[in-house]
Amino acid sequence: MSVEESREEPLASYFIGKKEDVMQAKKVSKSVNGRDVLVIYHAGKFYAMDVHCYHAGGPLQNGDIEEINNKLCIVCPSHKYKITLAEGEGLYEALNSNETIPIPRWCSKGIKQRVHTVVEVDGDIFVKLSVHGWIESDYYQSEKHRKEKCAP
Ligand code: FES
Repeated sequence: MSVEESREEPLASYFIGKKEDVMQAKKVSKSVNGRDVLVIYHAGKFYAMDVHCYHAGGPLQNGDIEEINNKLCIVCPSHKYKITLAEGEGLYEALNSNETIPIPRWCSKGIKQRVHTVVEVDGDIFVKLSVHGWIESDYYQSEKHRKEKCAP
């Protein structure tokens, strides 16, 4: 369920930047309401997700965009994990050892990275934060992680 479909109170929108500036930059990371998010402009569409990779907190703002298994993904620069832009799904390639000649196939780990909703209003880009449930990337936004990161 997207934020737009939620029956709960409408969530606040957070200003990211002017549409033209975000389009030109292609990736903009910003801290909004205590959360570090990444807005991506690619192939005519905007996407938003947590900026810290669900695997080990890698900097997704430095990741490349690739089409994998017909889905646009960001490839984390730290360990090359693939995350779909639209859903935050973790993809991995696997072999089936029961096959005579195993062929690598893309498989899903499920939703691993929190994605957010991008809204355009009069040439400005806003993000509505997704807050439902717990998703693995949430750990890198948590106070616990921030404390551990700062510990000597
Ligand atoms: Fe992103 Fe490891 S931190 S793949």
